[in-house]
Amino acid sequence: MTREEFKAKFGIISRSKEVNDIVDIAMQVAKSDISVLLYGESGVGKEVFAKAIHGYSNRADKPLISVNCGAIPEGILESELFGHKKGSFTGAVESRKGYFELADGGTLFLDEIAETPLTTQVKLLRAIENKEFMRIGSETVTKVDVRIIAATNKDLQKEVAAKKFREDLYFRLKAVTLHIPPLRERKIDIEPLTLHFINNYCQNNNIPVPKLSNEALEILINYNWPGNIRELKNTVESVLALNTDKILTDKHFQHLIIKNDEQETARNLPIFTRKLPEDVDREIIYRALFELKKDILEIKEILLKREDYEFNEKNKIVPDDDVLDIEELERNAIIKALEKTHWNKRKAAKLLNISERTLYRKIKDYDIRIW
Ligand SMILES: Nc1ncnc2c1ncn2[C@@H]1O[C@H](COP(=O)(O)OP(=O)(O)OP(=O)(O)O)[C@@H](O)[C@H]1O
Ligand SMILES: [Mg+2]
Repeated sequence: MTREEFKAKFGIISRSKEVNDIVDIAMQVAKSDISVLLYGESGVGKEVFAKAIHGYSNRADKPLISVNCGAIPEGILESELFGHKKGSFTGAVESRKGYFELADGGTLFLDEIAETPLTTQVKLLRAIENKEFMRIGSETVTKVDVRIIAATNKDLQKEVAAKKFREDLYFRLKAVTLHIPPLRERKIDIEPLTLHFINNYCQNNNIPVPKLSNEALEILINYNWPGNIRELKNTVESVLALNTDKILTDKHFQHLIIKNDEQETARNLPIFTRKLPEDVDREIIYRALFELKKDILEIKEILLKREDYEFNEKNKIVPDDDVLDIEELERNAIIKALEKTHWNKRKAAKLLNISERTLYRKIKDYDIRIW
C-alpha cells in the first residue's frame, strides 16, 4: 500500500511533511506488535492514527478496544480493564471480562493514559509486560495477546518528574512515540482539510458544494486553532449548516478573527509563576480586564450583526477600535489598582509594575480623579 492509499483508507488528510512523516512511521510500525505512544494536543488526530495503525496491522480483523482512562471513575477503572469475578465486590453479580480480554488478539487503545491512577499503573505495566493478569477477585491468571497503543496530551516526562506517572510504564509505552503537531504549526494542512470537511458535509447532507473564497481561506489559515482539527471540522460544519450561500467568504468566518484577538490578548497577559500576594491581586485585575475586553468584543459583534442598528448621534455607541480598547483597559487597570490600594499611589504603582512617576503622568493623562 502506498502512503496515499493508506491515507485514503483511513481518512487522513495531510499535505505537510510533518504529518506525512508520521504516516510513514505509522505504516512501518503498524505490522509489528511494538507499543506506540501518540502524543499531541486535543483534536490533532490521535484517535485517527490509533485506528489507522490497528487497521493496517495483522490484527485488523480482531477488535480495537478504546479505553478513556480519564473518563472512567478511579474506583472502577481496574475492574473495567481487567474484569472481575462474580461476588468479588458488592454489585459484582456476574463475572465480567475486562477490556484486556475483550481486546485479545487485537489492540487496546489507552486514551488519556496520563490520567491513570498510580496504583492502576502498576497493574497495567505488569499486564503489558507479562501478557497476563488476574481478574479482580480471581486467583487464576488470564493470558492475553494485546497490542498497546496509548495517547496523551500531557508531557509524560514532566508527569514522571512530578511523580504522577511511573517511569517504568512510561518507558514501556514510548517504544515508538508519534508526536502529532498542532494545526497552527502545519498551516499548509488547513486548506486540504477544510475542502475535505466541506465536501464530506455536503455529500452527507445532499447539498451543493459551495466554493471557498481566498479571503475566507486566509482567515482560516491565520486563525490559531487551539482545538486543532476537531475545531476546524466543527467550524466548517456549523458555517455550512447556517448558510446556503454558493461561496463561503470572509464574512462567514468573521467570528474567528474576534476569537483570535481574544486568545492573543490572553497570551499577551503576563504569566506569573511566583504567586506573591500582589501578584495574585495583579492577576485578578488582569483577568477582570480580559473579561472586560471579551465583553467589549462580544458587544461589538452583536452591534455589528444587528441589522436594525440605527446610528444615534446623541447616544452614540461607536464600536471602538483596538487602540481605544487598550487605552480603556489601561485606564480601568489603574483605577482598579488605585481602589485596591485605597489611592496609595506608591502601592498602586508597584501593583501595576510601573514607576510612580509614570502612574502620576497616566492619572493626569486619563483624567482619573477620586470620586
Ligand atoms: N489528518 C486528519 N485528516 C482528517 N481528519 C482528521 C485528521 N486528524 C483528525 N481528524 C478529525 O478531527 C477530529 C479529531 O480527531 P481525533 O479524535 O483523532 O483527535 P484526538 O487527538 O484524539 O483528540 P482528543 O485528545 O481530544 O481525544 C476527528 O473528527 C477526526 O476525524
Ligand atoms: Mg481522542
